[in-house]
Amino acid sequence: MSTQRGNGPRRVTVADLREMKRRGEKIAALTAYDYLFARLVDAAGVDVVLVGDSLGQVVLGLDTTIPVTLDDMIHHARAVRRGVERGLLVVDLPFLTYQVSRQDALRNAGRVLQETGASAVKLEGGSPEIAETVATLVGAGIPVMGHLGFTPQSVHVTGVRVQGKGEEAAERMLADARRLEAAGAFSIVLELVPGALARRASETVDIPTIGIGAGAGCDGQVLVLHDMLGLNPGFAPRFLRRFAEVGQAASAGVGDFVKSVKDGGYPGAEHTFE
Ligand code: KIV
Repeated sequence: MSTQRGNGPRRVTVADLREMKRRGEKIAALTAYDYLFARLVDAAGVDVVLVGDSLGQVVLGLDTTIPVTLDDMIHHARAVRRGVERGLLVVDLPFLTYQVSRQDALRNAGRVLQETGASAVKLEGGSPEIAETVATLVGAGIPVMGHLGFTPQSVHVTGVRVQGKGEEAAERMLADARRLEAAGAFSIVLELVPGALARRASETVDIPTIGIGAGAGCDGQVLVLHDMLGLNPGFAPRFLRRFAEVGQAASAGVGDFVKSVKDGGYPGAEHTFE
């Protein structure tokens, strides 16, 4: 039975993502943090819209994701929900909202689904403890996306660097991926992972992997919207392609506005009521 209501497009489900992997169709995912950009990415055909805790950096101006709160995530996810008709809406569980206890994780993930209308949550790590938490959430009906490789909430332990280099570290990551799959995760983000390892991980698990800085062997790709649109000019890691230069266009437009106000070119008669 479909849970679809109304006349909008059918929403992408976690089962759809698995089916896309089975038939070899790549999954396109992007972040969004507000209503208008959510509407734009959804209308462009993105399969997964992620309200990432990267909102800490790109929206709130923080240095890391660590200070982001559950209330921040819920506030932004509610706005994004209003703009998304088709894509699967996934919301990051921020730092310390799922690591302290499974009960805590369940309550917090439950809040995200109940208060935002999202369909799934994402959390970081692949330890046995995290896998138990994943199993608890999935058991309660909350779909979970995992996140391995560079996990930004652990930045103070790992630094920002490619993870899984060397056979031992690679085997550990593959074991983590298998553990997340066994716990019921529906997908795994692989961030800053060598391309060959990400390909191996994608072949190891039946659930889709979604890469960021993990090469073409993943089942899908995700980028931070502001980075791929060129809104964050200082940020230019090797894996990033800028698909547009929105920042340059915005700067030029704002500069033109200032000049036009100063020199009297704006507003003109056509902008003025009789
Ligand atoms: O927070 C985020 O935007 C993410 C993506 C980079 C996958 O986790």
